[in-house]
Amino acid sequence: MSQPKGYSALQIALHWGVAALILFQLILGDDMSHAWRDFSKTGVAAMSLSVWAHIVVGVAILAFVLWRLVLRFTRGVPADPVGTTAKMALVAHWGHIGLYGLMLAVPLTGLIGWYGNQSLLVEAHGWLKPVLIVVILGHIAAALYHQFILKDGLLLRMKRPQN
Ligand code: HEM
Ligand code: HEM
Repeated sequence: MSQPKGYSALQIALHWGVAALILFQLILGDDMSHAWRDFSKTGVAAMSLSVWAHIVVGVAILAFVLWRLVLRFTRGVPADPVGTTAKMALVAHWGHIGLYGLMLAVPLTGLIGWYGNQSLLVEAHGWLKPVLIVVILGHIAAALYHQFILKDGLLLRMKRPQN
C-alpha cells in the first residue's frame, strides 16, 4: 500500500462529522444522566426524545469511528509534515491512539452499561467525559500550534482532500 499525500474527502468528512456529533453529546449529555438516575431509582427508563438522540448519535459515532479505522488501515494516512521531530511524531501518534481509544470506549461503556444495566460501566462512561474533553483540547491546541506557530499548513490537510 503506497502512502497517500493527504486525507481523502471521506476521511475529512468523517473527521468533522464525528467532531460535531461528539460536541452534541458533550453539550446535551445531561438529560441522559437524569434518565439513568430515574431508571436506577424506579427501574423504569423514561425514553424521551433526548434520550433516544443520545443513544442514536452515540451509536452513529461508534459506527463512523470503526469506518475511520478501516480507512486508516486500508487507504492509509499521510506522512507527518516536513520538519516533524521524533518527539512530536511520538506525541501525535499516541494522541491519535488516545482519541481513537476514547471514541470507542465512551460509546461502548454507555451502550453496554445502559442495555446491560451495569452501573460500574455507566459510571466509567461518566468518568471518561473529562478525559475525552482534555484529550480533545490537547488535539485542538496541537492543531492551532501547527497553524499559527509552526505555520506548516497542517489544518489544510483536514480541509483539502488529496490522493
Ligand atoms: C471531537 C473533536 C475531534 C476529534 C475526536 C478529532 C480526532 C482526530 C483524529 C483521530 C485524527 C487523526 C487522523 C484520522 O485518523 O482522522 C485527527 C486529525 C486531525 N485533526 Fe482532529 N479531531 C477533533 C477536532 C479537531 C479540531 C477542532 C481541529 C482543528 C482545530 C482538528 C484538526 C485536525 C487536523 C489538522 C488533523 C490532521 C493531523 C495530521 O495530519 O497529522 N481536529 N483528528
Ligand atoms: C461517543 C459517544 C458518546 C458520548 C460523547 C457521550 C457523552 C455523554 C455525556 C457527556 C454524558 C453526561 C455525563 C455527565 O455529565 O456526568 C453521558 C451520559 C450518559 N450516556 Fe453517553 N455518550 C456517548 C454515547 C452513549 C451511548 C451509545 C449510550 C448508550 C445508551 C450512552 C449512555 C449514557 C448513559 C446511561 C449516561 C448517564 C451516565 C450517568 O449519569 O452516570 N452514551 N454521555
